[in-house]
Amino acid sequence: MKKQILCIGAGYVGGPTMAVIADRCPDYVVTVVDINEQRIAAWNSDQLPIYEPGLDEIVFRCRGKNLFYSTDIPNGIRNADIIFVSVNTPTKTFGAGEGHAANLQFVEKTARSILEYSQSDKIIVEKSTLPVRTAQTIQRILHSNNKGLKFQVVSNPEFLAEGTAISDLNNPDRVLIGGMETEEGRQAVEEIISIYANWVPREKIITTNLWSSELTKLVSNAMLAQRISSVNSISALCEKTEANVNEVAEAAGLDSRIGPKFLRASLGFGGSCFKKDILNLVYLCRYYNLPEVADYWESVVKINDYQATRFVRNILQAMFNTVADKRIAILGFAFKANTGDTRESPAISVCKQLLEEHAALAIYDPKAMENAKLDLANEKGNIEFCSSAEEAVRGAHGIVIATEWQEFTQLDYEALFRTMQKPAFIFDGRNILPHKKLFEIGFDVYSIGQKPLTHFQGIVV
Ligand code: UDX
Repeated sequence: MKKQILCIGAGYVGGPTMAVIADRCPDYVVTVVDINEQRIAAWNSDQLPIYEPGLDEIVFRCRGKNLFYSTDIPNGIRNADIIFVSVNTPTKTFGAGEGHAANLQFVEKTARSILEYSQSDKIIVEKSTLPVRTAQTIQRILHSNNKGLKFQVVSNPEFLAEGTAISDLNNPDRVLIGGMETEEGRQAVEEIISIYANWVPREKIITTNLWSSELTKLVSNAMLAQRISSVNSISALCEKTEANVNEVAEAAGLDSRIGPKFLRASLGFGGSCFKKDILNLVYLCRYYNLPEVADYWESVVKINDYQATRFVRNILQAMFNTVADKRIAILGFAFKANTGDTRESPAISVCKQLLEEHAALAIYDPKAMENAKLDLANEKGNIEFCSSAEEAVRGAHGIVIATEWQEFTQLDYEALFRTMQKPAFIFDGRNILPHKKLFEIGFDVYSIGQKPLTHFQGIVV
């Protein structure tokens, strides 16, 4: 008999994860539910609601066979043996812990729905990133039933990164499963192991206690973000000293104890996880009266905000201290390449700051235009949303590279240069362009953590 898996929440984590589970585990029927009818309709259509390389292929292969999308949450809960909870946990915007703590109202509502509609024992898997000890809250709600039902709560955090979700899911560095240290808890963990064991080598499936698993997710994201803030802080120093941050990062990263990854200086990190999870960690530390530890991690976020502000300050200084009424082409709006997601994208902060300086923005991103329009909907000022890089750049004083899309490295910069106002500036917020070549074309080139290449003699910015 096939096991029934339900996933509550059809977003960036639930969507791709369930597609891969359905693909790899023909013995399971996977149903993904969400309260958002539009999103479910999109999962059932040819135009999936999220862009992720390789996702369409898998969904089209499995949908209707052992992968289903529905808004019928009660029925989904009734039929399920295993329920993955993958709802969003945004940072609280009100009340206690505002701006730091996670808003758990969707998680709690989900737990109450599970209780209301269940007619049999189930395993509940926390997939959303949650503050440590949330499992306890879920357990308490579930155990308040008088139906005689048994629920086991398991933590199985997701480490996939957007843009590489399918390959991350197919070849994970590790799968982490945390459970209660009781006989029933161990059995529940075994059930979840047997799902992943369909394609993940057994030695990569790690089990811990519930609380270690919950905390590991926050710590992993905090440490990754910390590396970026570390190298970004050094980029500021490089700009003052003529050291080159790319060279420093590469040379430091060759020490195998440091390693080369996540040391790419940029205008800052974005995405739905890093800031939220660090602030969550900070809140947790404050809650447990560890102010020094809280301040330490909070500084990772502060340096990130500083980096975007510093980037805009450099733009202003380079462009003779005013960008008022100057057209600036913003190339890239997504928080990173290969996604249309713009949550916490540094491009948002850069655009807002440039608008405050009365710049005229011409924005182009290959996948994120709809989100860009939503993100800037309440901004006053001159904003044009363009359908190509060429259109955005035409007539501009400056180009800002805000996302490391491959296509921006392949533009015909000689042709672009001819269509721009002079002097023509490029601000490479991702250090992806051939700076020397651009300088030779005639651009004044500014990047992160490297000496600017300008045609003005004797002026150092
Ligand atoms: C992250 C974690 O990587 C993933 O494990 C977790 O499950 C969710 O959060 P994601 O937010 O999708 O994934 O993107 P990631 O690739 O980690 O990039 C985050 C941000 O950091 C992006 O804005 C990216 O451009 C930036 N970044 C990344 C840098 O600025 N420099 C780097 O060296 C690496």
